[in-house]
Amino acid sequence: MKAVVFERYGPPAVLKYKVVGEPVFTDDQLLIQVKACSVNPVDFKIRRGDLKMLSGKKFPKVNGSDFSGVVVKAGKNVKRFQPGDKVYGSLNALRGGAYAEMVVADEELVSLKPEGMSFIEAACLPIAALTALKSLKDLGGIKAGQHVLINGCTGGVGSMAIQMAKKYFDAKVTGVCSTGNIDLAKALGADQVIDYKKDDLWSADELFDIFFDVSATATYPQAKKLLKPKGTYIFTLPSLQSMFVWPLLSLFSFRKSKVILLKKQREDWELLNDIIDLGYLKVVVDKVFPIEEIEAAHEYAESGKVRGKIAIIVSKYSRLA
Ligand SMILES: NC(=O)c1ccc[n+]([C@@H]2O[C@H](COP(=O)([O-])OP(=O)(O)OC[C@H]3O[C@@H](n4cnc5c(N)ncnc54)[C@H](OP(=O)(O)O)[C@@H]3O)[C@@H](O)[C@H]2O)c1
Repeated sequence: MKAVVFERYGPPAVLKYKVVGEPVFTDDQLLIQVKACSVNPVDFKIRRGDLKMLSGKKFPKVNGSDFSGVVVKAGKNVKRFQPGDKVYGSLNALRGGAYAEMVVADEELVSLKPEGMSFIEAACLPIAALTALKSLKDLGGIKAGQHVLINGCTGGVGSMAIQMAKKYFDAKVTGVCSTGNIDLAKALGADQVIDYKKDDLWSADELFDIFFDVSATATYPQAKKLLKPKGTYIFTLPSLQSMFVWPLLSLFSFRKSKVILLKKQREDWELLNDIIDLGYLKVVVDKVFPIEEIEAAHEYAESGKVRGKIAIIVSKYSRLA
């Protein structure tokens, strides 16, 4: 089979789509023919070597986490899937493997593809949608009627977070984005939009129950000023500050600081599928690249200009539901 491999950390040009060995799967795993996959920031951070303390020095590596496809074989201990099932899933980002013709995935990291979504849309869901859902629900404890600020509201995570906060959790949503994305933020459901290129976020005269800092461009000491008493600041980048210093500081305040470390749990996939079935979440697909153009896809992803998600077609049939 073919897959996108890299032999060293570096720029997008290190990614090569080439023949690799056939995948091996265990009795607890699924062998899936990939129709589409998508690009998440963690993919290019791993490719660049930003996370090499965790991803290690062993090469070659296959890049990619999120995918959709069709089950080809199910190990004998697999209970919920059978060959022919249309699925979407997410591999451990540090190990990668999703930018490939075939993937081997644990049952827990796979879900049936929502009926109304194409393979391309489904491949865009896992990391972005589950991060949005877990951040709002588990870290933020979001409730109907609360006011949520989403800083970076039109990229992968943000575009999903606006829709879930507004349509599923029934919150009031203020989005923050650049000038060119204001219309998109409103179309996704934002009640108000702050243009960070022109407006000063810090002079907003409202306070928020949740400050979801998707773009990770603020800090807890700054965000506190915009939080209601008992409000929560949620940051997306694990670091010494976000994991230890800010939570420690927040022990002395009713305004809490939390960092999202995504764990993909089955009950969250199920809730995500319910939200999709209810019609509350659509995927914004910015661009679709054939897998042979993975270098261009990563260049675009790193430009910071992405509206929604970037998808990769692996099979020419991926446009079919
Ligand atoms: N910890 C975890 O478990 C976890 C899980 C998923 C994602 N993440 C992280 O979350 C971050 C966002 O992921 P993503 O997939 O949403 O990335 P993305 O698709 O690249 O979106 C980034 C967003 O940031 C916005 N932005 C850029 N500069 C900004 C600024 N100064 N103020 C406000 N917004 C700004 C962009 O909007 P404009 O285009 O309008 O500028 C864009 O909407 C990444 O760093 C990713 O690694 C962490």
